[in-house]
Amino acid sequence: MTATYDHTGRHVLITGGTKGIGAGIARAFAAAGATVTVCARTPPPVPSSSPPPVPSPGSSSDPPLGPPSSPPSGSPPSPAPGGPVRFVRADVRDPEDVERLLGGFSRLDVLVNNAGGSPHAPLAGSSPRLHARVIELNLVAPLLLSQRAHPLLKDAGGSVIMIGSSSGVRPSPGTSAYGAAKAGLHHLAACLAAEWAPEVRVNTVVVGLAATENAAGHYGGAFEQVGATIPAGRMARPEDVAAACLWLAAPGYVTGAQIQVHGGGETPAWSWLTSAEIAR
Ligand SMILES: NC(=O)c1ccc[n+]([C@@H]2O[C@H](COP(=O)([O-])OP(=O)(O)OC[C@H]3O[C@@H](n4cnc5c(N)ncnc54)[C@H](OP(=O)(O)O)[C@@H]3O)[C@@H](O)[C@H]2O)c1
Repeated sequence: MTATYDHTGRHVLITGGTKGIGAGIARAFAAAGATVTVCARTPPPVPSSSPPPVPSPGSSSDPPLGPPSSPPSGSPPSPAPGGPVRFVRADVRDPEDVERLLGGFSRLDVLVNNAGGSPHAPLAGSSPRLHARVIELNLVAPLLLSQRAHPLLKDAGGSVIMIGSSSGVRPSPGTSAYGAAKAGLHHLAACLAAEWAPEVRVNTVVVGLAATENAAGHYGGAFEQVGATIPAGRMARPEDVAAACLWLAAPGYVTGAQIQVHGGGETPAWSWLTSAEIAR
């Protein structure tokens, strides 16, 4: 059985929708008929077969997103893209960029706060500036975007989807500021859900270990070995996260929820001690 969604006539903004999970979410909404806008600091690569650029506010020369580039090794081919996806250049940490980005919308049904991430940065020995920037990207920016988008979302009876992380629900050694920011993001979503109900729903997709181009460095490129430690037997793919987003974005009762897309979570390290090989 395949669940399909019709988001025709709905306007969706996905921050950081040019790569990885965000690009997967953008393709899924486009395939479901939505009018999709993505933003990032750099435009997506222009595929050779792409149609002419779609005009976008503030960056009319930026190209639309075309078919996905090669998937990272260990991840499957991406689904076929739907209609063209409009790109707007914006740094979500910059309030002026956020104002320009949202000012380009007369209607907005869904905001997906996806732009995020962090380099490996153990707290000892790394600069306070770096940690502040990580918290800005993963917590402050989604707050600003949601705040600015709220009137549009209220008019449309729309929703916000936060892309959270398992790093925000369990210790995140080496990316402490990121983990703390994601924990804050999950809580922010719950607060906004209560503050903006019933007109605007706010939910979080808590993503586990996901196989994306940029994550290859983080996981040592060992997607298969990492996947074997997950109960589902593989890492999450962008389309797994996108499926949760399509469902959460469809009109409904669910708000203030955290949907775990982690394949059953991460097997605790101690449990390996009881495995047959070690017990022998
Ligand atoms: N991959 C994982 O294992 C994993 C696990 C749990 C949660 N997540 C979460 O899932 C989300 C996507 O992760 P990903 O692995 O797909 O990331 P990714 O491949 O690194 O892509 C990040 C996207 O965000 C954009 N971006 C980064 N900084 C930005 C800024 N300041 N302003 C605007 N756009 C910005 C990037 O484009 P530019 O660089 O051109 O700006 C890119 O489009 C993040 O929130 C991440 O925390 C990922």
